[in-house]
Amino acid sequence: MLKDLTPQPADKIMALMALYKADPREDKVDLGVGVYKDPTGATPVMRAVKAAEMRLVETQATKSYQGLLGDLGFVDAMRALVLGDAVPAERTVGAQCPGGTGAIRQLLELVRMARPGARVWYSEPTWPNHPAMVKHLGMNAATYRYFDDATGGVDFDGMMEDLKGIGPDDVVIVHGCCHNPTGANLDAAQWQALTDLFVASGAVPFIDFAYQGFGDGLDADAAGVRGLAARVPQMLMAASCSKNFGLYRDRVGLALVLAEDAATAELTKGAISKLNRVNFSFPPDHGAKVVEIILNDPDLRADWQAELEEMRLRMLDLRKSLAEALRKATNADTFDFVAEHRGMFSRLGLPPEQVRKLREETGIYLVGDSRFNVAGLPADRLDELAAAIAKG
Ligand code: LMR
Repeated sequence: MLKDLTPQPADKIMALMALYKADPREDKVDLGVGVYKDPTGATPVMRAVKAAEMRLVETQATKSYQGLLGDLGFVDAMRALVLGDAVPAERTVGAQCPGGTGAIRQLLELVRMARPGARVWYSEPTWPNHPAMVKHLGMNAATYRYFDDATGGVDFDGMMEDLKGIGPDDVVIVHGCCHNPTGANLDAAQWQALTDLFVASGAVPFIDFAYQGFGDGLDADAAGVRGLAARVPQMLMAASCSKNFGLYRDRVGLALVLAEDAATAELTKGAISKLNRVNFSFPPDHGAKVVEIILNDPDLRADWQAELEEMRLRMLDLRKSLAEALRKATNADTFDFVAEHRGMFSRLGLPPEQVRKLREETGIYLVGDSRFNVAGLPADRLDELAAAIAKG
């Protein structure tokens, strides 16, 4: 039977990780997968995470099952972190899921369950797993323009033009902040206009919220999404704790649904519980419990926020320094957008051939569409990097 399988194309980010690992060069530079790195190149366990884990080991009395929706203390704490008090709690349903990816997958299945013919929109470009999952689930897919290659900013006119015909059978995936892969983000007025479109059309916003705290700060990054949530009758949201809590391998995510009323929320709760049951039964507990401990303990929370802010400011500094180095190396302002972008990534707009050359000739690993991980930039080699990019 297994002989009937056909070879599957590799996810381009995963394939790049494997290439990097196999490269013996000592001076290679990993700007590929979205994992935070400190100045030594390490991806540390955050201080508050370590402390909460120790507390958990000391106090946890059982490893027996949680409910199908996971740890509800985690769900409540996370709902407050992402949405603040934008919506009444009784209109929401949250389910702990294995990572942000697990949350996206469960929410897509929820859409398919509710409306099998629904059309799922995502930005062009987007994180490659969005189209991969939508297609894997056999759902209708559509794309909207997002990035303006000429300016390095959002092509908002193109985006609104492409979305102008959406209606109640459409679900639109929007990056809540820190767009992956481009780094170009909607401003307040654009969020407002997009919110108006969702309200007028009845289409369902689906927020992928994987980088809260990596852009302009925890609350600033959530401002657009909270404004949207306050006005729309329905919204889907997948939040990840991989990046802002550094819990990558522990797989901590939240699927959050905003329903139009409490009765629909209750119906949705049953549907997500069923989906969790048939896909993995109980979500993994450890990392979610750690997040709950941190968010509910004022000292741990303050320390977590302080460390997250250090990470954010370091990425911002690296952005500015790289933009300056590129300005010097190219004698032009072409790459100034790198300093304006926010989050973990920017897309440089280099042709695939140059990305290949950078990898093979200089050991600099960018994703094929020329996305780079800001946190991976070596602060002491930016001029060298800028020169290699300028060389073409
Ligand atoms: C990325 O975009 O690099 C990260 O979100 C990791 C992943 O799963 O692709």
